[in-house]
Amino acid sequence: MDKANHIVSLESWGKEDIFALLDKAMKVKRNPGNYSESLKGKTLLMMFEKPSLRTRVSFEVAMTQLGGHAIYLDLITSPVKSKESLKDSAIVSSRYCDIIMARMFDHEDIEELAKFATVPVINALTNKYHPCQILSDLLTLKEKKKSFPNLKLAFVGDGNNNITHSLLLGCSAIGMDISVGCPGELSPLNEVVNLAKKKAKIAGSNIEIVNDAVKAVRDADVVYADSWMSYHISPEQKMQRFKLLKPFQVTSELMGYAKPDAVFMNCLPAKRGEEQTADVIDGPHSIVYDQAENRLHMQKALLLVLNSKL
Ligand code: CP
Ligand code: NVA
Repeated sequence: MDKANHIVSLESWGKEDIFALLDKAMKVKRNPGNYSESLKGKTLLMMFEKPSLRTRVSFEVAMTQLGGHAIYLDLITSPVKSKESLKDSAIVSSRYCDIIMARMFDHEDIEELAKFATVPVINALTNKYHPCQILSDLLTLKEKKKSFPNLKLAFVGDGNNNITHSLLLGCSAIGMDISVGCPGELSPLNEVVNLAKKKAKIAGSNIEIVNDAVKAVRDADVVYADSWMSYHISPEQKMQRFKLLKPFQVTSELMGYAKPDAVFMNCLPAKRGEEQTADVIDGPHSIVYDQAENRLHMQKALLLVLNSKL
């Protein structure tokens, strides 16, 4: 967990924290029936400033299967931020609910919620980070790859991105090599790369940021793509971004530079013909649906741990 029992970023997470959580998630996945009453009487508040399918549904189903309840709060039709401060919303919501989860634009907003909430706060995606996604992706890789965590993961596409940033922190912490192939204009934030480099030094892994998709993917065990049009990107930027990102599209030809048994990942939502071609996402290397399913198992583990039930 982050300091103070929140899950806001993976900035303070080390190898042991992640490995312990993966073991717990596997335990919950193997024996879901053992936890059907663990969160009886507990309520999760889910605040959303952006759209969602996987995160919203998997958290809500997780609460149902753990015996608790989830409330969806659309921030557009609530007074949060428009009529009142995040401080007031956090304090009041903490009086009603046992956990707050929020999907926000600005990362500072989730930090603000965590600062004033008196219950745990979970980051369900900000423009900067998506920690829950990456924790469940590591669970998927642990299941799929015998040599986990001694792997090379190549992320290709938009480097200045929540998935890229959280992958950098998560992979480097557990000793997985990560190579980001992206246009120079869409490089990851320096502060995140520097933090990841510190983690990599401790865990003995390598990090590289390159402007060449083939170089990034060469000999990779995992090739990861994400949307070229993240929720916070305005439609006016589409033409310019597609021009920049086209050389980083994951095609079968590009997959050919990875190891023969490489897996292809995408956190979804995905667009065939944009960040990857249809033959890649629908082909034999793709594990995107297992990845999506594991969101549910990991959310359950997170909810149980934050309630001291696991
Ligand atoms: N991967 C993910 O977070 O998907 P949603 O945007 O549908 O929640
Ligand atoms: N980078 C994507 C992730 C979606 C789960 C976005 O922010 O839209």
